[in-house]
Amino acid sequence: MSNTRYGSVRMKGVVKKHGNFTALHGMDLAIEPGEFFVLLGPSGSGKTTTLRILAGLEEVNGGSVWLDDADVTHSQPGERDVAMVFQSYALYPHMTVAENIAFPLKMTGTPQAEIQKAVADAAAKVNIAHLLARRPGQLSGGQQQRVALARAIVRKPRLFLLDEPLSNLDAKLRIETRAELKRLQRSLGVTAVYVTHDQEEAMTIADRVAVFMEGRLVQIGTPKDIFLRPATVAVAGFIGTPPMNLLPARIEGNRLLVGGAEFATEASLAATSRDVTLGVRPGDLRLADRGIPAQVRFVEDLGDSLIVHLAVGEHTVKLKTEPDGPPLAEDQPVHLAFASKAAHLFDRATGERL
Ligand SMILES: Nc1ncnc2c1ncn2[C@@H]1O[C@H](COP(=O)(O)OP(=O)(O)OP(=O)(O)O)[C@@H](O)[C@H]1O
Ligand SMILES: [Mg+2]
Repeated sequence: MSNTRYGSVRMKGVVKKHGNFTALHGMDLAIEPGEFFVLLGPSGSGKTTTLRILAGLEEVNGGSVWLDDADVTHSQPGERDVAMVFQSYALYPHMTVAENIAFPLKMTGTPQAEIQKAVADAAAKVNIAHLLARRPGQLSGGQQQRVALARAIVRKPRLFLLDEPLSNLDAKLRIETRAELKRLQRSLGVTAVYVTHDQEEAMTIADRVAVFMEGRLVQIGTPKDIFLRPATVAVAGFIGTPPMNLLPARIEGNRLLVGGAEFATEASLAATSRDVTLGVRPGDLRLADRGIPAQVRFVEDLGDSLIVHLAVGEHTVKLKTEPDGPPLAEDQPVHLAFASKAAHLFDRATGERL
């Protein structure tokens, strides 16, 4: 748990423009002390912009930014008590690891004896104590990434800003490192704002996630909230591996009409007949005797599961199933069914969840 009530973040109506392009359209965000908070969204949605605004590296065109009780909207980066870790690590190549880690303390005029102890502590926390005399060019990618982390934690900032810090690591190291990163953040009790476009990474590391789309926040919640109840079609189509299947459908009374088939729907939704988008997760679809007519395109074998790619009219649908079912042939006609509680319904016109 957080050892402090220190490190809350507020963004109020923040607008950011690059020329006549609006990168953030009035961002409202509240992050609590000690949270591991992830900014998730597709490329170009405004995640890095948001992080740079929090760091003080970008001016805003409207709204305000608060750290704890202070309005820092126009404060310099050095006045904010935040540390940022970039995707590129941004280490100084001519300095040793120890000098790199010590750099932020040197800048603030910390006494030498204190610096040595702080560097040793930070290096120990990320398991690089044995590398202090080397230069960045003599380190692996994963080791460089730890140096960048040690440099970020050495000042004991109240806020840790991380922009895709693991994206240069291979898949296995990335999974190990993200677990360590979360342990480190917990043990320091520091608030972390972490940017990624990898939804799987977001779901495993976050206390809460904010989903960005085109410079707007479309949903904030725990990973579970967002997985179980995506707020819009766009979020639904972004979360999950593979993501949710989306098909045009219609509600008529208490019936849901989709792909020429008919299902019962929840009475609460039956008040008005209307066009909807139906979402069903690949793992919630099953092959059945009756249901939506579909045709097998091909089967992807992941070892512990199969992803069956299917055509429903002109739409592609994926079904995730156990590997030990009956064999499926290319072009084989099948039917798809799902439990009514597995259906996610969105307004066709607005994309909002019903
Ligand atoms: N200096 C700039 N001048 C003009 N446009 C910019 C500038 N910086 C960012 N943008 C634009 O603002 C939008 C948001 O950029 P941002 O870097 O925040 O995206 P992102 O969500 O971090 O994407 P990625 O996942 O690719 O890193 C993008 O459309 C980008 O092209
Ligand atoms: Mg970015």
